[in-house]
Amino acid sequence: MSSMLHVCVYNQDPNAVSDLKRHIEELNFVRLVAEVDGPDALADTLREGLVNLIFFHLDPDPDPIIRVIDDVSARYPELAMIAVSHRSDPESILLPMRAGCDQFVCEPIDSADFSSAVARAASRRLSGVHKSRCICVTGASGGAGTTSIACNLALEIGSLVQRDCALVDLDLQFGDVAMNFDCQPRYNIYDLAESGSELDQEVLSSTLTSLPCNVALLGRPDQIEQHEGIGSDLVHRVIEILATAYENVVIDVPGRFDARTTAAFEQADTVLIVCQLLVTSIRNARRSMDYLQRLGVSEERIEVVVNRYDGRSRGLTKKDLEDVIQKPIFASVPNDYQFIARSIDVGKPIAAVESSNPVRVAIRRLACSIVHDNAADAAGSDDASAGFLSRLLSKYHVTRASTPTGVTKCSQAARAARSRSGRP
Ligand SMILES: Nc1ncnc2c1ncn2[C@@H]1O[C@H](COP(=O)(O)OP(=O)(O)O)[C@@H](O)[C@H]1O
Ligand SMILES: [Mg+2]
Repeated sequence: MSSMLHVCVYNQDPNAVSDLKRHIEELNFVRLVAEVDGPDALADTLREGLVNLIFFHLDPDPDPIIRVIDDVSARYPELAMIAVSHRSDPESILLPMRAGCDQFVCEPIDSADFSSAVARAASRRLSGVHKSRCICVTGASGGAGTTSIACNLALEIGSLVQRDCALVDLDLQFGDVAMNFDCQPRYNIYDLAESGSELDQEVLSSTLTSLPCNVALLGRPDQIEQHEGIGSDLVHRVIEILATAYENVVIDVPGRFDARTTAAFEQADTVLIVCQLLVTSIRNARRSMDYLQRLGVSEERIEVVVNRYDGRSRGLTKKDLEDVIQKPIFASVPNDYQFIARSIDVGKPIAAVESSNPVRVAIRRLACSIVHDNAADAAGSDDASAGFLSRLLSKYHVTRASTPTGVTKCSQAARAARSRSGRP
């Protein structure tokens, strides 16, 4: 985690917060990254995952803001929250605290009180921050379905947690992650290599393409030869920063291993090896497992997913595969070529094409297992509590989205970071 606190000010009274902002700017461990004036803008900002602390300015009308605090604290328990108000009667202090604020700051603001309130709120909340999850998806053989599974897994994870899941296309020459979402990223990983400036969270955020289906995409270079400009250090740093900003990071790793894929595997919490029930694929799944373990990826972090499973096959069985990999298969995705091909042709993830298709259901279940730390029964886990954020965020849910999933949506933070870094 970065030691800098990234804060957002929630305020509906345009003339009221100059004093608050001055005090924020005086703290050298705090950076103001967003100012919002309502729940919609707050939901957009929180989806970015960049904010650790929110100041809620309660005046002049605290009641609706307290409801917002209530919802945010339920949905983002890791966020620190501080209420700020001119009112200092017991009820005015108690209500925001009961809704989930860590501290209450009275106006006019006293500098010493203010900095100690910020430090206490931050240390209480941020000590227990959940570590991010990095999932590498790689194939035991070419065409095993790695990209299809990585893209749809990221989308399902994003939809389950209702926050952007970062998705990196590490197939630096022939990656087709962006194509699966029918989008053309404005920037890609090569821009990071080229920029020459030190890579930080703002620059990386401004390079990601934020899709309306809760996926933030980092695409491969435009030109094939540009892959040479991307070193393992950059890959390592990209994943490191993504892991501080996103709860979930999915990486599509090509089957040709090199120093850059090693950088990804080393940081993975889980490596999913996508395999088909074919002799060559099974044999390479075993070889990949051995290789990963030699790299230092422990066996518990490596899982095998069977793709294109056709129960009618009279050839190799799941049991054959389990005998070779010496562990249970983690997940199994059925074979439905027409369905997957249709989704790629129309540039929509499979959930948007037919949400009840068995391929989609299997990948959703895989996402549930990952999000809920392999809980056996993930059924019902997607009925997010119906707070205002869940309603707001549900407009990005791909099965309900009215906008095409491929439309590039530059986020507020990305726009801000881009203008700071001098980009259009
Ligand atoms: N579950 C599936 N059922 C049928 N076809 C699939 C399935 N998963 C992937 N495919 C198809 O297999 C081909 C290769 O998939 P892709 O995801 O690009 O694999 P890889 O990234 O491993 O090369 C694509 O044509 C894709 O449509
Ligand atoms: Mg691929």
